Amino acid sequence: MKDIYRGSLVRLASQSADVLAKAFANWDRDTEAHRLADSDPAQLWSEKKIKEFIEKDAEKHSQAFRFAIHTLDEDKLIGSVSLWINSWTHSEAWVGIMVGDRNYWSKGYGTDAMKLVAQYGFIELNLRRISLGLHSYNPRALKSYQKAGFQLEGTMRGEGLRDGVRYDSLWMGILREEWLAQQESK
Ligand SMILES: CC(C)(COP(=O)(O)OP(=O)(O)OC[C@H]1O[C@@H](n2cnc3c(N)ncnc32)[C@H](O)[C@@H]1OP(=O)(O)O)[C@@H](O)C(=O)NCCC(=O)NCCS
Repeated sequence: MKDIYRGSLVRLASQSADVLAKAFANWDRDTEAHRLADSDPAQLWSEKKIKEFIEKDAEKHSQAFRFAIHTLDEDKLIGSVSLWINSWTHSEAWVGIMVGDRNYWSKGYGTDAMKLVAQYGFIELNLRRISLGLHSYNPRALKSYQKAGFQLEGTMRGEGLRDGVRYDSLWMGILREEWLAQQESK
């Protein structure tokens, strides 16, 4: 059996609240990274506050599968990716990803991590569907998710307002059979 946590550029690793809080405190100083990933206003939280948030979130969402993203070559922590189960009845989950270290953008790391988490969802959790959302001003994310096999399913027009301009929210998804077909065509 292959190692389902290991891709071609990254591996999925366990998350320690301490280590992640420190990393997020740094990544959140990069307002572009924050604004790409989040619709909430950018703000500078302390490491302590981020750690409390991570711990509370883990209690609140017990049906979540959270991973740190480490590079294979240097074993460097570059981001985080999580699957939140929306419904076991309907076998459906939501995914969110953040490559926080901008030195690793547009080099394939995020797509590799997304492929691993989709694989985890479909073969380990037996999901039927995985969904995600992004801002229309994030073409890098759109391309990355398409490379990972997600399809654009909908647009919520003018949902957000940033820098005085309204932007759309985009919704994407991948179905189990689509993911299986991709594996067969490899
Ligand atoms: C979104 C994210 C996970 C994607 O991971 P990544 O490792 O950067 O993505 P990849 O390198 O695998 O793929 C990005 C693709 O977009 C392309 N791209 C980059 N900037 C682009 C732009 N402005 N317009 C169009 N395509 C662009 C890249 O060239 C690459 O395509 P290619 O492989 O054909 O060359 C990562 O960039 C990230 O976390 N960014 C910061 C936070 C964020 O945006 N989170 C997602 C919130 S929904």
